[in-house]
Formats: sequence, structure tokens, C-alpha cells
Amino acid sequence: MARLSVAVLISGRGSNLQALIDACFDPAFPAEIRLVISNRPGAAGLARAARAGIPSRVIDHTSFPSRDGFDDAVDQALVEAEIGLVCLAGFMRVLGDAFVTKWRDRLINIHPSLLPAFKGLKTHERALAAGVRFTGCTVHFVRPAMDDGPIIVQAVVPVLPGDDEARLAERVLAAEHQAYPLALGFIARGRVKIVAERVEISGLGGQHPHAVLNPPD
Ligand code: GRF
Repeated sequence: MARLSVAVLISGRGSNLQALIDACFDPAFPAEIRLVISNRPGAAGLARAARAGIPSRVIDHTSFPSRDGFDDAVDQALVEAEIGLVCLAGFMRVLGDAFVTKWRDRLINIHPSLLPAFKGLKTHERALAAGVRFTGCTVHFVRPAMDDGPIIVQAVVPVLPGDDEARLAERVLAAEHQAYPLALGFIARGRVKIVAERVEISGLGGQHPHAVLNPPD
């Protein structure tokens, strides 16, 4: 079976990109990363793409007078590379409605909280301030509203006594690195269906449409 052709959009460190690269390194994994796009020239993730022999493009948002111009350049690069699915991985630009509509159901994101809690930035700081006992991460389809859209995979991470932002972020990041390849694998195997804006994943025994990686004891 042909592997799903994937692009990963980054802005920085690229540790989630690395998790996806590592998953795709297995020839039995049903997806391959054909393109990495960064909106920041200095993004550390670009070196990860180079090491893996994956073509990358820098599309610097500061060189476009409008958001639409930037979005169109990204779209063109994706079309040229015949991309079937776009994974946002620490991509710090909001994509416009036209782009999101064009790539609807072929555009996914990872967010470091259990959505719909803690949308936006500083998720761990806010989770600690709220005193939640569990947080985690969410892989979801992208919709025009920020950090919104049908949930594919969530991973639960406990907040431990004495946690600070750095410790919690590290634990959540480790969960992200499991959740993203898991979600990509579900999609690439054709197991994901969106029904009335909720994700159904076939082969999970009909128990629950979302996968929990680290359920609480
Ligand atoms: C991750 O925590 C991701 O959930 C968020 O931005 C961070 C990116 O980290 N959207 P990395 O660049 O993948 O290491």
C-alpha cells in the first residue's frame, strides 16, 4: 500500500517532528514525511529534517506583507510536493480560514493540554495555577477556531506534587511524542472517520473513539 505523504510544519525545536521522523523510519509505518516547512529560518527542527534526508523549506512569514500571502506560499509548497496530510508540530503561526478550509480533514495539530481545557499558550503554567490533577496532550483536526477541532488522540499525564512548569512540560512532551505518531498511524491506516465533528477510530473494539495512552491508575 502507498504510504501517506505527509508534511510537517514547524517553528522551533522540532521534537515532535523528530518523533514523527522516528516513526516513519520504520518501513512498515504507513506514512512518510516528504516535506518539512518552517516559518522561522533558524528553527532547530530544520537540522532534524536534514539529518533524516527530508527536504525542507523555509517560508519566512516576515517576508510576506499579508497573512494570506504566507498561507498561499505554504499551500503552494504542499501542493507541489503532493502532500496528503499536514501535521502542525510546534508551528507558531495561525493559519487563515481559507487555508484551514482548503485543508480541512487533512490538517492536524498537537496541543499540550487535554482540550478543550487550556487552549492557547502557557498551558502548563495555567494547569498548575488551576490545580488540576491531570493534564496531557491532544492531537486534533484543525478548524478555523484556535485549538479547536475533532479530537483524534489524547494522552493523560498526572500533575505530581512539587511539579513546576519545566517538570510538567517534560512529562507532557514525552506523552506528545507517543500520541502524535499514534494519531498519524491511525489516519494513515484509514482508520479515522469524522462523524458529526467527532472522531471514530475503527478497530478499538467500539469502546471509545479516543485513545488514552496513560490512563490514571
Ligand atoms: C509542543 O509542546 C507542542 O504541543 C506545542 O509546541 C511544542 C513544540 O515542541 N504546540 P517541539 O517543537 O515539537 O519540540
